[in-house]
Amino acid sequence: MLRFDPCDHFDFGCIPEALALAKPGAEGKLPVCDPDHELPADILNHDFLKNEPRPGSSCDGARFSTVCAWRIGDPGEAAMKLDRLLQTQGFGSRRECRARVLAGRVLVDGVAADDPDLEVDAANCRFSVDGVEWRYRERAYLALNKPAGYECSHRPQFHPSVFSLLPPSLLARGVQAVGRLDEDTTGLLLLSDDGQFIHAYSSGKRRVPKVYEVSAKHAVSDEQVAALLAGVQLNDEPEPIAAADCVRLDEKRIRLTVTEGKYHLVKRMVAAAGNRVEALHRVAVGPYVLPQTLAPGQWQWIEPAAPAPA
Ligand code: URA
Repeated sequence: MLRFDPCDHFDFGCIPEALALAKPGAEGKLPVCDPDHELPADILNHDFLKNEPRPGSSCDGARFSTVCAWRIGDPGEAAMKLDRLLQTQGFGSRRECRARVLAGRVLVDGVAADDPDLEVDAANCRFSVDGVEWRYRERAYLALNKPAGYECSHRPQFHPSVFSLLPPSLLARGVQAVGRLDEDTTGLLLLSDDGQFIHAYSSGKRRVPKVYEVSAKHAVSDEQVAALLAGVQLNDEPEPIAAADCVRLDEKRIRLTVTEGKYHLVKRMVAAAGNRVEALHRVAVGPYVLPQTLAPGQWQWIEPAAPAPA
């Protein structure tokens, strides 16, 4: 159950300010432009936030058609109305989610649910939409086995986007790639809608180890392995960049671990060592290893197993 502490009120205040101050039990009101009670993404994604539309109460009729009352529940709370649950998981606006439920397209724990106001235990329920089963996830963390010929951009220039490999509900949640791989690079690409996670694993400053299997054009010499480990000088870089690890797999293949996130880093390092990358496949990012069962083009949920590096 939600707690109502008559404490903090934020009437039409600055949204980020309100959220920064908000504690469990806080309540307030927000003007919303849309009778569907769509709230900005940072509100929708804010932990423990519940909102309760109050149609009829109006504010500044010129711009806002209604006022949405919100309150913050206890962190452990998981009860959520079905339409809201669907909305948080990317199945459309609140109104669209209600319509999906009313159209009989949603099952909860295997049972047809035709009441959008049904209170569900979000953390523990399984639901299906149009026959596809889902579990509630407060945040999305995904591993994709990126195939060659895909760009890691929402606006690809020459090839299809990796985002075309994901279902629309994940795109609607705002899932982003954690760093980028070149169009011709294959292997592990992490994706998430958790900004902190994305930053923690893509920021060069965090020195997250990224492991690549490199197929080189020429046999990889001992000198080249030594150069990669000692550090190679790249154009436009003030200091030589060293691999954290470099293991020979066979005559023309090495497993290279780097901790920086620079553009074309592996290709440039291998070129600087006197060879050339023919194929590049990423097998791990920090604690996340590409699952062997994940075929190219497929994605799967992952658990944020380790705390993001500080
Ligand atoms: N280094 C590269 O050169 N390309 C990639 O896609 C990733 C790392």
